[in-house]
Amino acid sequence: MIKAQGLIKKFPPNDFVVIKGIDMTIKDGDFISLMGRSGSGKSTLLYLLSTLDRSFEGKVHIDNRDVHQMDVKEVHALRNQQIGFVFQFHYLINELTVLENVLLPARKAGRMEEALPFARELLSIVGLDSIAHKPSSSLSGGENQRVAIARALIMKPKYIFADEPTGNLDSINGNVIFNLFKKFNKDFGTTIVYVTHDQEFGKLAHTQIKLADGLITTN
Ligand SMILES: Nc1ncnc2c1ncn2[C@@H]1O[C@H](COP(=O)(O)OP(=O)(O)O)[C@@H](O)[C@H]1O
Ligand SMILES: [Mg+2]
Repeated sequence: MIKAQGLIKKFPPNDFVVIKGIDMTIKDGDFISLMGRSGSGKSTLLYLLSTLDRSFEGKVHIDNRDVHQMDVKEVHALRNQQIGFVFQFHYLINELTVLENVLLPARKAGRMEEALPFARELLSIVGLDSIAHKPSSSLSGGENQRVAIARALIMKPKYIFADEPTGNLDSINGNVIFNLFKKFNKDFGTTIVYVTHDQEFGKLAHTQIKLADGLITTN
């Protein structure tokens, strides 16, 4: 469970307030879409809820642990093993193959061998098994995105945070990714929070949250 209380985010240099006092609870197994106009604070909120940005006012608890109280080691372990991030712009390691990139989080956790069959399964689901051994430097933008998604899922994280994950994909691949999220949610009880501009994708969530000007709105 992730609980945010009185969440406020200001950006320097002028303390521009982007998140203006949000309380929200994300229950285990939730499937949440986050929508709202460009600039309403969706990406910022995702960073705050997922430990990527720990500089904020208010509280965020992840599984009853206060994010502000965690040391760097704890945060890294949490991010590596419990949280999958899918962002709009992905950074694969060019020198590695597609498969090696997917396996990177498992390698960091010393669990590469056991993760190998699942890595191949994920690549097959996203339609990239035939290029598993290609260097990732040779991929198209959409392929890049799908590799990054497989990498985010390799540890079967408890939480997945996705910021416009289908933004760079055509509708067929967008659906593949969306169905993959649904499958994780159903099979593993993975909690999913995704930002989207696409009304259709947004409506498919169990819970729809709308942001306007740094606050959750009910309209
Ligand atoms: N690093 C930053 N420094 C200053 N302002 C920022 C920074 N990141 C985001 N903002 C501002 O915060 C507001 C919300 O941004 P963002 O969370 O990216 O919105 P969204 O994802 O909904 O489009 C915008 O006005 C943006 O300009
Ligand atoms: Mg954004």
